[in-house]
Amino acid sequence: MRVLVTGGAGFIGSQIVTALTARGHDPVVLDALLPASRSAARPRPPLPPGGAWIHADVRHPAAVADALRGVDAVCHQAAMVGLGTDFSDAPDYVSCNDQGTAVLLAAMAEAGVADLVLAGSMVVYGEGRYDCARHGRVRPGPRAAADLAAGRFEPPCPTCGDALVPGLVGEDAPVDPRNVYATTKLAQEHLAAAWARSTGGRAVALRYHNVYGPGMPRDTPYAGVAAFFRSALERGEAPRVFEDGGQRRDFVHVRDVAEANAVALEAVHGRAPGVLTAYNTGSGTPHTVGETAAALAAAHGGPEPVVTGEFRLGDVRHITADSARLRAELGWKPRVGFDEGMAEFAAGGPEDAAC
Ligand SMILES: NC(=O)c1ccc[n+]([C@@H]2O[C@H](COP(=O)([O-])OP(=O)(O)OC[C@H]3O[C@@H](n4cnc5c(N)ncnc54)[C@H](O)[C@@H]3O)[C@@H](O)[C@H]2O)c1
Ligand SMILES: [Zn+2]
Repeated sequence: MRVLVTGGAGFIGSQIVTALTARGHDPVVLDALLPASRSAARPRPPLPPGGAWIHADVRHPAAVADALRGVDAVCHQAAMVGLGTDFSDAPDYVSCNDQGTAVLLAAMAEAGVADLVLAGSMVVYGEGRYDCARHGRVRPGPRAAADLAAGRFEPPCPTCGDALVPGLVGEDAPVDPRNVYATTKLAQEHLAAAWARSTGGRAVALRYHNVYGPGMPRDTPYAGVAAFFRSALERGEAPRVFEDGGQRRDFVHVRDVAEANAVALEAVHGRAPGVLTAYNTGSGTPHTVGETAAALAAAHGGPEPVVTGEFRLGDVRHITADSARLRAELGWKPRVGFDEGMAEFAAGGPEDAAC
């Protein structure tokens, strides 16, 4: 199968290209090599082995139309990622992520390419799932600055104020995007659903949780928490853990995410036309941010993490995935365990050295 991988030079996209090639497919990469996802340590990604390569922006209709020639399916990874620096980034996020997706989908409709796998994100949910002993499933709003400053990090029940039990969020949980990036990721899904309905296309959105592993962007405002911790360790500094370190996340290895994309691309053609289905893509095993810092520090040989009590307004306390639907319907299961993956990441794999 010939697959156009937008953003195929990125952290996740380049691993998708490797996974597709290994499974006998024929990937074509379209990537603008945006400066935001590059860093001094990773100025330009290694070009994916075996894949054809187009240096272009997904917002350019002519380039996308060219790239779609002879393509059977599209794997859309290109996006500006992370929280950005401040609200002045909003037009760039919307342009890259939503205008870009609209241009791509219009070109697919024109070219008659009807199969799409989209990089979604857990950020569409806002907070994770919470249960109150008295009120059942509840939805706490964003945490108040005063609570965070006083070290009250757990969101209380919005009705009775009692402590809540965090759980695994399912795909049918209500969406609640809380920042510009999250809003653009949700809009991508809505655009893809609208495209599927109006053209008879078939779409799968994989809502990735915290992806980590070799080639992860680092030393940029867009880097993920595991990359920040590892960069600190490499400088000989202690990883600085915000809040009390008890934030629960689902860390999923980039090779597992790449495999999920390959499996979804192989399955999407057999699905009902006109529909987008969303799948959580996580390891299914929650870990705290504190545990992650400790695992990386131990694998690196120190120094021990420092829990600072600092916080970022807008950070979510807990968000962990129920990825049962992806396992049951597409037969995917993660292979890289937390300890093994974090130890490999702390050591820096051969792929990192090449970046
Ligand atoms: N890393 C995570 O933890 C995570 C979690 C959830 C979702 N995602 C999603 O996964 C996808 C890939 O993210 P990543 O972590 O690999 O980031 P990345 O920055 O490493 O890769 C994104 C790639 O897309 C390219 N790109 C961006 N805008 C483009 C445009 N307009 N035209 C062409 N190319 C463009 C960039 O140059 C980059 O190579 C994104 O859609 C992101 O929203 C990532
Ligand atoms: Zn309650």
